[in-house]
Amino acid sequence: MENKKQQDQITQEEVKDQKLKEYAEKLLHQLTLEEKIGMIHGAQFFQTGGAARLGIPPLVMSDGPMGVRQEFLPSQWKPVGNRDDYVTYLPCNSAVASTWNRKIAYEIGSVLGEEARGRGKDVILGPGVNIKRSPLCGRNFEYFSEDPYLTGELAAAYIRGVQIWDVAACVKHFAANNQETERLWVDVEIDEESLREIYLPAFYDAVKKGGVHAVMGAYNKVYGEHCCESEFLLNRVLRQEWGFEGVVISDWGGVHDTRKAAESQLDIEMSVTDNFDDYFMARPLLEKIKAGEIREEAVDRKVKRILVFMQKLHMLNEGEPGNSRPGGEGKETCGKRRAGAYNTQEHRQKALEAARESIVLLKNDQGLLPLKPEKQKRILLVGENARQLHADGGGSAEIQALYEISPLMGLKSHLGGNATVTFAQGYCSGVEKGKEGQEPNWQEKSLENGGARQKGEAEDVLSQSTELKRKRKELLEEAVRLAADYDTVIFVGGLDHTQDCEGNDREDMKLPYGQDLLIRKLLEVRKDLIIVLVAGSPVEMGSWIGQADTVVWSWYAGMEGGNALADVLLGNVNPSGRLPETFYKTHLDCSAHAVGEFGGAKSVAYREGSYVGYRYNDQYGVEPQFCFGFGLSYTSFVYSDARLDSGTNRISCTVENTGERDGSEVVQVYERKKGSKFFQELRGFEKCFVKAGQKARVVVEIEKTDEDAVYCIGSSSRDIRLTLGGNRN
Ligand code: BGC
Repeated sequence: MENKKQQDQITQEEVKDQKLKEYAEKLLHQLTLEEKIGMIHGAQFFQTGGAARLGIPPLVMSDGPMGVRQEFLPSQWKPVGNRDDYVTYLPCNSAVASTWNRKIAYEIGSVLGEEARGRGKDVILGPGVNIKRSPLCGRNFEYFSEDPYLTGELAAAYIRGVQIWDVAACVKHFAANNQETERLWVDVEIDEESLREIYLPAFYDAVKKGGVHAVMGAYNKVYGEHCCESEFLLNRVLRQEWGFEGVVISDWGGVHDTRKAAESQLDIEMSVTDNFDDYFMARPLLEKIKAGEIREEAVDRKVKRILVFMQKLHMLNEGEPGNSRPGGEGKETCGKRRAGAYNTQEHRQKALEAARESIVLLKNDQGLLPLKPEKQKRILLVGENARQLHADGGGSAEIQALYEISPLMGLKSHLGGNATVTFAQGYCSGVEKGKEGQEPNWQEKSLENGGARQKGEAEDVLSQSTELKRKRKELLEEAVRLAADYDTVIFVGGLDHTQDCEGNDREDMKLPYGQDLLIRKLLEVRKDLIIVLVAGSPVEMGSWIGQADTVVWSWYAGMEGGNALADVLLGNVNPSGRLPETFYKTHLDCSAHAVGEFGGAKSVAYREGSYVGYRYNDQYGVEPQFCFGFGLSYTSFVYSDARLDSGTNRISCTVENTGERDGSEVVQVYERKKGSKFFQELRGFEKCFVKAGQKARVVVEIEKTDEDAVYCIGSSSRDIRLTLGGNRN
């Protein structure tokens, strides 16, 4: 019965697809070659050409993962500056991953999709699902995890959320784009098995589980071919093996050759330069087709896919020209297409909920958190990140946020007038932010120097200057002096988008701006120092972690980040974030550095193969600072009664909240298989909310069970509470 239903559904889908293809074919025959070429390359920085005569609109795109980016002029890297494009600033993907919650991922995707529609976009350029091979990659804050399963599950949910709004997600950057150094040219050397085991599955899940409509090709090369023209990646893997029928878009400037691009499975070429007619798939392609050097069918295939894609987004009204957009003639006229909205109250609430679930409690040895009421009278907040705003940085993921609540603002507004909250800068970054509108946008020059981002001159000069050193010394002394005088001292430091930034990788994991010294000095006078780190990637903590009792981790958590942090510090929210990546003691403990290469210019050898993240550390006994899956709670959970329901892929156990606070636990299932090359791999997870003193039965679905495997059920990759199976060995 069930089978029959499924079959009927499949046939219905097929019939629908067939109809879309037929209509696409019909339109295709009416298009001139020039019109078709216009549809397969950028005619503006974020827009292709349409064919108004036939009612085919252009495709309008926007970055990026943390919200819809501000409007740019069509052919200059300058914001339009209308002041009406402020959006909901969402937690970055690392934060989303840290929730280990598919529902949150879906909801964040849905906010992004609705806002993209609200801003008149057809394609949102995200999510980024590249695997965090090294903690030093400058774009890691845009990515989810070091683990393909966790990434794939969350990204698929996120994509489904985006796409219910008749907006396409564009999963990026396909594939093996794991460093920023020489990102335009570097050739990734990796054995195919590891590529398929670690770097491709999240894209596969985006296609198969997420039903993603668009894929962005990466800048780099794999096996000597540029990803945007790659026969292996685009044709063999994506189209043939995975059956992807959506649209493939190049990264901005990722195409290098007219013939290769035309004959590849790429559909749309985008770039950062304003010579739109000279793009490889523009006039040069037109000329080659006219000269009979390239067959027109190559273009037809692409256009047909774009036309089907547009129908899936309800962008085409059969036979009806005109598809007005917000900003055009007013309200949508286009039939069934959903309308969106941006900056709604509901979106801000979703951003807050996600931020709350993403914060990770790393240490709470003396139970100082949540703060007791008597400790909340006189609070000193030390550190630039207490008031630093992060939305408008990081590269193409920058956001013009409607607002952003800093940790200082969050705490002050939560405590109200009866408490004194004092701020001491403690350290300073020394980065002089350019005045709005005065600095050229970095993206304009992003194809120069292998894609490396030019650091601001002011920053370089300042960071070496004696003036800056003196200033840092003064700030440190002031903070240490003040620290003795308060009920509670909270340090808020970490990174900013100088380090977590497109176009650059970090050199190491050290905290910048003299923060290590400051933390050590503060700990000398305040053993009860509460350390909060806000960053997009892990940092070294070795020089002070032994002395510190209390450490809280926050990613770039969106516009409500400061409120979420205050909620956790004050105990309104019980922390439930779990690390989606290994926090190494130093980057040298990470396999990309210990075994492989990282940051190479011409090529980079992934010699560690598939031993990435915890897979390497667990196998070779390398102790991390904090392991994959780790995170504390204000309550405690006891696991019991594990079961693998026979004939199913369902593993279940009972989780009891034995503490005094309600809280959420993330039940993680790792597989240890005899004969497998890995010590263990994440196979399933489920987040569950359990009230204080109560029990819940938690069911974790895994993809397939293996009767020879042992299933380890735990609270992190190194805190296994129950095991199942393996009796046959
Ligand atoms: C980035 C992409 C981004 C594109 C458009 C490129 O520099 O790599 O992730 O979507 O620019 O801004």
